[in-house]
Amino acid sequence: MRLLRVALLAFALGTAAYLFIARPQLPPAERGRRLAESQGCFTCHGAAGLKGAANPGRKDRTVPTYGGDLMMYASDAAEVREWILEGSTASKRESATWRAERDAGALQMPAYQGRLLEREVRDLVAYVMAASSSPEPEDSLALAGLERMQALGCNACHGMGGRLAPPNPGSLKGYVPSWDGADFAELVTSEREFHEWVNDGISARFAANPAARWFLDRAALHMPAYKRHLAEGDAAALWAYVQWLRSPAARPDSAEVTSF
Ligand code: HEC
Ligand code: HEC
Repeated sequence: MRLLRVALLAFALGTAAYLFIARPQLPPAERGRRLAESQGCFTCHGAAGLKGAANPGRKDRTVPTYGGDLMMYASDAAEVREWILEGSTASKRESATWRAERDAGALQMPAYQGRLLEREVRDLVAYVMAASSSPEPEDSLALAGLERMQALGCNACHGMGGRLAPPNPGSLKGYVPSWDGADFAELVTSEREFHEWVNDGISARFAANPAARWFLDRAALHMPAYKRHLAEGDAAALWAYVQWLRSPAARPDSAEVTSF
């Protein structure tokens, strides 16, 4: 009986500590993705902005996507911002060919100026940049990690480049943690813990905490154990990628956008 009471107390304390760190903190790209959904962006740019609708009258025939097409239209985050606010960019507007092409199409990019708060514009830019996989790491090991995370299917749950936080019903915070957000530092305190998550689907620290396990078990989506699926060198490459992702070099909304 006494033992049970001690166990219950330990569970309650563990739960309290866990709830304390449980504030939802969506990363910018995920806020942007949800906003893009509610602002109608995906009606024209397709699901997730990756499959443009037919646009009769235009030579390109479809609305551009945020994936492969993006860099033909926007060279950096500042231009993505211009597209969203003005429905075009200054350099496009100078081109008579582009103006004729725009006017020929059934669908035109709306100007969202006046409909969005500054914070929302930043979040949308963060999403569009994430969907276009930019910026990419220059370091070759980190770049290999990005390629491996795509090949292994980590994108499916952690979003493009690990930058999103899709809904995860029943989980403590309600979403799959991104590798980009504040949650990451709560879940992964060292390289060793990172490898535990990837190899075993859980860290030794979380596995030993009954309160944490209780929450993890209730969620619809679970972190798979990848041990059997990793090739030589994958673990180090994935870690290098995550380190890059969490550095200022990975922020699309840094210098040029804040000074716009
Ligand atoms: C009515 C359809 C429509 C809607 C709604 C729409 N767009 Fe567009 N968008 C377009 C078209 C068409 C273009 C191509 C522009 C051109 O060349 O004239 C475009 C171009 C863009 C571009 C630059 C090219 C690229 O890579 O895709 C970005 C970025 C963009 N849109 C983002 C957004 C965002 C973010 C939203 C929502 C806030 C949005 N769009 C809503 C039709 C739309
Ligand atoms: C089926 C969905 C799914 C896939 C695919 C997936 N994860 Fe996860 N991952 C999760 C969930 C959910 C969590 C949160 C812990 C939990 O609930 O199990 C998580 C947590 C993590 C964490 C802990 C820290 C954090 O903030 O994300 C790391 C690291 C991680 N995953 C790495 C990876 C890697 C690397 C891959 C690909 C090799 C991958 N995941 C693929 C669902 C997934």
